[in-house]
Amino acid sequence: MPTAHHPDVPQIRLPGQAAAVPGPLDMTNMYLAHFGFRRDLGRLLTAVCQVRLDDRRRIRALAEHLAWVLLVLHHHHTAEDKTVWPRLRERAPEAIETIDALEAEHQEADRWIRESESAFAAFDRAPTEEGRTRLATALRSLADTLGAHLAHEETEGIPLMMAHITPEEDAQGHKDIQKEYGLTGMIKLVAWITFDLPPEVEEHLRRSAPKELALLGKLVKGRYRRRMAYLWG
Ligand SMILES: [Fe+2]
Repeated sequence: MPTAHHPDVPQIRLPGQAAAVPGPLDMTNMYLAHFGFRRDLGRLLTAVCQVRLDDRRRIRALAEHLAWVLLVLHHHHTAEDKTVWPRLRERAPEAIETIDALEAEHQEADRWIRESESAFAAFDRAPTEEGRTRLATALRSLADTLGAHLAHEETEGIPLMMAHITPEEDAQGHKDIQKEYGLTGMIKLVAWITFDLPPEVEEHLRRSAPKELALLGKLVKGRYRRRMAYLWG
């Protein structure tokens, strides 16, 4: 087992999180991202059901926010598809059914990602009650499908990662994802990923996050909070 000699590290717990399995990999980024997906897909659904059809500016802002959440989801899933599942297939053949299922769940989520994008584009172009219903169905289905996948990953996928992926490989994976975002993307990611966290998780980040990321978070927090206040109404 490649990780057998590494000690366990403290893990965070966020609302909606199905488990916080102990082990040597620091899952903070993973849990923060999962929390962000759950939080914002729920809020987008509520906002879409409530927004006035003549409030084109807010509809456009909501569509842009969904595009952002889906971009983060895309990077998150691509990293797992490219590096995590292939490694686990090789190193944990006894868990092949779980790995197959987790990978298939990404495909299932893709279907609702595409429908959410297409329904939001139509609603943004010409907002109608029929369009709202189509979009709400797509967002609800995406939240349900993705929610089930995230819980499955937290309960069965993360134990496999803890046992078969090394902290060095995991750290390299985080660096590779950061490169995908570039500087502007990273600023937005830090604001998004640290928004509306429980105080104990904020405290954990204050103690453990790299100093430059913590500083960046402080700088962008106020502006991001105002943007979210407008978005969620
Ligand atoms: Fe996943």
